[in-house]
Amino acid sequence: MLQKCYTIVDNYRQFDFNSCLKLLNYLGKKKYGTNFQIQKKDLAILHKLISYAIGEDEHCANYGIDLSKGILLTGPVGCGKTSLITLLPEFMYPHQKYQVKSTREIANEFHKDGYEIIHRYGRREKAFCIDDLGVEQNIKHFGNECNTIGEILLHRYDLHVNYGILTHATTNLNAEELEKLYGNRVRSRLRSMFNLISFPMETKDKRK
Ligand SMILES: Nc1ncnc2c1ncn2[C@@H]1O[C@H](COP(=O)(O)OP(=O)(O)OP(=O)(O)O)[C@@H](O)[C@H]1O
Ligand SMILES: [Mg+2]
Repeated sequence: MLQKCYTIVDNYRQFDFNSCLKLLNYLGKKKYGTNFQIQKKDLAILHKLISYAIGEDEHCANYGIDLSKGILLTGPVGCGKTSLITLLPEFMYPHQKYQVKSTREIANEFHKDGYEIIHRYGRREKAFCIDDLGVEQNIKHFGNECNTIGEILLHRYDLHVNYGILTHATTNLNAEELEKLYGNRVRSRLRSMFNLISFPMETKDKRK
């Protein structure tokens, strides 16, 4: 279906943004119900995200988006972060597609399986998306408290530096809050792993 969004010119895919929006609208309704509707106010951020997903180098350069880094999608509660980051792989080549896992699911798995989780996600040599950074709590495994997500982020940073493997994430938190939660070591790595793409603070909660 993605084929309808582009024409091939000189062996390159040339995308049509409006067709991409139609596809996104269709996929959003299919996955999240008929209330899903592309909103005018979101067009700017959608242009950034879709340009990144399809690898439009010129647009990305204009936005200061580095295609060799992942995306950190931030914004207020209910603005649509999880839905968009979940739909975005539809615009990517198969090798760029990623699985989305929420920090809550990861924390629960840690509770059940322990430190193995940090290897499972921290060393997985495929792109990966951590949804909702910051809502997980430090949980204990056999009495040892572990900042599971912080540890996974440190591993993902190493994968990025050594093998160019990408990590994406979403969060409601701002940079200072992330630093407070995960510490300075993680925060400085986040900057070099991610392109920050933010919904404006005043974006309405789509659950209402
Ligand atoms: N463009 C849209 N039109 C209508 N509804 C939408 C749209 N995008 C998302 N929604 C719906 O709004 C709700 C919130 O979306 P989503 O979970 O993606 O937000 P979020 O930013 O991840 O929220 P949180 O900060 O709580 O994690 C969901 O029920 C989703 O189906
Ligand atoms: Mg979310």
